[in-house]
Amino acid sequence: MSDERAKKNIMEYETVALDDVNDALVILDQTKLPGKAELVSLHTGEEIWEAIYLLKVRGAPAIGVAAAFGIYLLAKRIQTQDYDVFYHEFCKQKEYLNSARPTAVNLSWALNRMERICTENSRLPVTEIKKKLKEEAVALKEEDIQVCKAIGEYGLTLVKPGDGILTHCNAGQLATCRYGTATAPIYLGQERGYHFRVFADETRPLLQGARLTAYELYASGVDVTLICDNMSGAVMRNGWINAVFVGCDRVAANGDVANKIGTSVVAAVAQRYHVPVYVCAPTSTIDLHTATGADIMIEQRPTHEVTDMWYEKPMAPEGVKVYNPAFDVTDHDLIAGIVTEYGIARAPYTESLREIFVKNNKIF
Ligand code: MRU
Repeated sequence: MSDERAKKNIMEYETVALDDVNDALVILDQTKLPGKAELVSLHTGEEIWEAIYLLKVRGAPAIGVAAAFGIYLLAKRIQTQDYDVFYHEFCKQKEYLNSARPTAVNLSWALNRMERICTENSRLPVTEIKKKLKEEAVALKEEDIQVCKAIGEYGLTLVKPGDGILTHCNAGQLATCRYGTATAPIYLGQERGYHFRVFADETRPLLQGARLTAYELYASGVDVTLICDNMSGAVMRNGWINAVFVGCDRVAANGDVANKIGTSVVAAVAQRYHVPVYVCAPTSTIDLHTATGADIMIEQRPTHEVTDMWYEKPMAPEGVKVYNPAFDVTDHDLIAGIVTEYGIARAPYTESLREIFVKNNKIF
């Protein structure tokens, strides 16, 4: 790893970028990390869809930004000056990208925002609409950075210097355009000399905690310790954890939260040891149209991710039944606060989340 540190730091890479000159969406391929930092240029709808499905670009906010740049590039290619023809093709491409992953609401949120640019400007020439689509996608990326920073500032008020923090999956810079959500308080604390001790769950089966969170925190000089998913109880019982910070893929109106599989286990264990669990969620991840966690569609992933991936040979009997949901739902009563860019929502969430949207003129 010391050699790694001598190279370009992982934090200097952009997770998602637009290369407008070459009509490409450029992503840092996260399936190659931590071994290799490789940027890939995606041109076609199929390439973008596959990159999202295969988690080359992943994490709710990063998926949203990738989809916004993606739909802009696909729209740019539509050869017509007729708005109706353009809009019909735009919607087709939008639905296609939207089908890549079902749980993170940021995907449909970003695509809907891009669609609104078309409908609100339907009287303009198609070339002008395309320019506005680019501006919107660029703005969406810039906003993501500001939003993560604001989440970091609010999150930092919940902890004190020297605290132990546990996190699950990767809600870090790699999952966003900068700072991350759950890691934003950690990075801001790092800048301000808080000396947090961070514990990162490895996060089976795709190891986002080990490959990505431990990697980016370590590269940033944060005191991070990698643990297996089944060790969170042990570190909490030891009294090493003062707070849990996690990201999320969709927050329902009642405060139930879908996040990476295993989050609900961490939250249940944290309740046992009186450790507060904070969910860091930009308002783009809050879905007031979804009443409860039971209404959130949970993505099911292929079996080989559990049985074969990361192993030299299969580590389960051939043909055995495998259940591989990518996410689980953490019940709202296990959550001490939902940290948004506008402040911290507390129970009862049905009221506090709605209030944040109303107060800040957010569309829901
Ligand atoms: O399957 P992934 O790697 O996309 O899952 C990511 C998570 O569960 C993150 O915690 C969530 O998207 C928030 S990222 C700021």
